[in-house]
Amino acid sequence: MDQNRKVHQFKNPILNWIEFRLPIISYFKKEYGEYPMPKNCNYFWSFGALATITLVTMIVSGIFLAMNYTPHTDMAFDSVERIMRDVNYGWLLRYIHSNGASFFFIIVYIHIVRAMYFGSYKYPRELNWILGVFIFLLMMATSFLGYTLPWGQMSYWGATVITNLFSAIPIVGEGLKTWLLGDYNVGNATLNRFFALHYVLPFVIFGVVGLHVAAVHVHGSNNPDGIEIKSKNDTVNFFPYMLIKDTITGPLGCLVIWRRLSYFGDTLAHSALLGVTLAYAFSLNIAFSVFVISVTNLKAVNF
Ligand code: HEM
Repeated sequence: MDQNRKVHQFKNPILNWIEFRLPIISYFKKEYGEYPMPKNCNYFWSFGALATITLVTMIVSGIFLAMNYTPHTDMAFDSVERIMRDVNYGWLLRYIHSNGASFFFIIVYIHIVRAMYFGSYKYPRELNWILGVFIFLLMMATSFLGYTLPWGQMSYWGATVITNLFSAIPIVGEGLKTWLLGDYNVGNATLNRFFALHYVLPFVIFGVVGLHVAAVHVHGSNNPDGIEIKSKNDTVNFFPYMLIKDTITGPLGCLVIWRRLSYFGDTLAHSALLGVTLAYAFSLNIAFSVFVISVTNLKAVNF
């Protein structure tokens, strides 16, 4: 036992007991209390927090949906109908989840464009960007898998078309497609594994987001001027200043979603529409820029 280890002292003895064994409280105090945030950061710097709030909302609403969903080709569609009609507030959960998916992409697009515009992808934040790219790929995979679950026509043909893309890969393509589907066609085996993966991937995203945010905190956040912070006078503590900004943006975002859900529940929800359509349309554009930036970033790495 290292007796010389400096242990942070709190007034509360319970906190001290925990802190001695696992210094998690001082970690959070340092990373989310005293973390120096550049003074000039604007609301674009709140979109990371908003994305985190949305991710948590998606996970929580998804868990409750899963309690009432049946991943079987004979029952999936009807179980979704039951969620909409019979389950208490099931319609609300489903709309939160499907609209939320669309909003999640919009929020992350703004977050990405912020990083591009203000040069947050450059040295020393390249790994932060690269982890972001992984998150983005995982998000696309998750939204695609979720899209197939209601097992309507759009789900079935969506699953068919997208998995067929793999068969275009020379030599291994057909085998790969069959392996992914668990059958020669999209069927029950496919629906089962897609559900299992759709349940687990958001938790993987959550883990990568943890690394992503930890990476931001190593060298500190970028700022609209793109100038590295030199002294403490250029920063404010994350708590309460940035937290207040983030918690204003969060509820505002929720309000927009709430309005959407209340009046036009089905518009964005239909087929997790924006989520998937935007993901594949805009993604071509954004993914290309993401790719170019990543490659040029990698060149800067001194291997
Ligand atoms: C689930 C999705 C994501 C979440 C929850 C998330 C979360 C965050 C958070 C909390 C921050 C710190 C606060 C801020 O600067 O906004 C951040 C910073 C950052 N994120 Fe993300 N992020 C996500 C996706 C992405 C993607 C897809 C990219 C790019 C490909 C990306 C690139 C960056 C960059 C470069 C920064 C540093 C910004 C700076 O210091 O100026 N993020 N992210």
